[in-house]
Amino acid sequence: MQTPMPIVEIAGTGRFLPDNVVTNDDLAKRMDTSDEWIQTRTGIRERRIAPPELWAAQMGTEAARKAMEKAGVEPGEVDILIVSTATPDRWLPSTACDMQSLIGCDNALAFDLMAACTGHLYALTMAEGYIAAGRGEVALVVAAEKMSAIMDWDDRSTAVLFGDGAGAAVVRKADGSGRGILSSHHRSDGKLAELLYRPGGGAVEPLSQTVLDEGRHLLKMEGREIFKNAVRSMAEACDLALQKAGLTASDIDLLVPHQANIRIIEATAKYAGIPMDKVYVNVDRYGNMSSATVPIAFDEAIEQGRLGPGSTAMTVAFGAGLTWGAMTIRL
Ligand code: ACO
Repeated sequence: MQTPMPIVEIAGTGRFLPDNVVTNDDLAKRMDTSDEWIQTRTGIRERRIAPPELWAAQMGTEAARKAMEKAGVEPGEVDILIVSTATPDRWLPSTACDMQSLIGCDNALAFDLMAACTGHLYALTMAEGYIAAGRGEVALVVAAEKMSAIMDWDDRSTAVLFGDGAGAAVVRKADGSGRGILSSHHRSDGKLAELLYRPGGGAVEPLSQTVLDEGRHLLKMEGREIFKNAVRSMAEACDLALQKAGLTASDIDLLVPHQANIRIIEATAKYAGIPMDKVYVNVDRYGNMSSATVPIAFDEAIEQGRLGPGSTAMTVAFGAGLTWGAMTIRL
């Protein structure tokens, strides 16, 4: 099969990370855990935690401004702003609308996309479809996550895993040179919703003193089940994204996976047939920032020269929903 001609390209990327570094030893002072346990089971050494006054929309705006600068795009040129977030600043309006007003992209439509850790991949594909339909030429795709706000800081099995941050990409109509999104394969399975969820605080179980006292508005996770599903689904998504692009694993210069756990990353890379020296890893420095992990890793990989003009990347992610997906992208 021939490699498809991309409809859109990634014209610029950006990231924002809060300054505040929280190490495993810091966490061990407030809960029954240890640096040794966290590093061995997850690969995480430290994470960034945003201060209470820093909104996800503000983090996303910083990342978006950098992506726009690299792409040479002015706020008024943005036709659509899609923000993936599992941690909206408020229930209404969307974090995307708050971000639109901060960025000043007044000609855009703006909305949030909720697909947990797979959000950035879904959002890139939505942007691709919007541009393919001829509705606009420039999309701003931002992932902004303040996971620290939905953690149960008394639950050591989840609190040690997550961090805060934002990543962004400017998506533009491809120029016909072959650069851009080559393929994607995304799926979800709502039957497994309760493996990773926040039971209370929504319309089904509105906030009440009981919800707050029982911490039902905070994240709950069945870690082992998530682990098994993550590896299986990401391996399958990689295979199908490669097939749709007419590529094999040996054509991939760098795999940029969701950063939840080094053991999940290693198992996925193994199934996908990609050696670890071609896998981007920053889970040790940031932990799991839900949908922000992939665009932050992608931006770092470009900055470090591990991705550059002509290289072929594959991204893959997995999250609550359950949701999962993979994409191949030529830079
Ligand atoms: N410190 C010390 N001990 C701990 C900690 C901790 N932070 N957390 C759990 N333990 C203990 C458990 O209580 C258990 O003790 P027990 O055997 O006495 O009962 C023991 O460690 C082993 O616990 P497991 O849950 O079996 O440990 P496991 O090796 O499976 O690792 C982990 C747990 C890291 C959560 C792993 O299952 C994992 O990474 N799962 C996937 C999580 C994930 O990727 N989530 C994000 C999805 S993306 C999204 O949408 C947000």
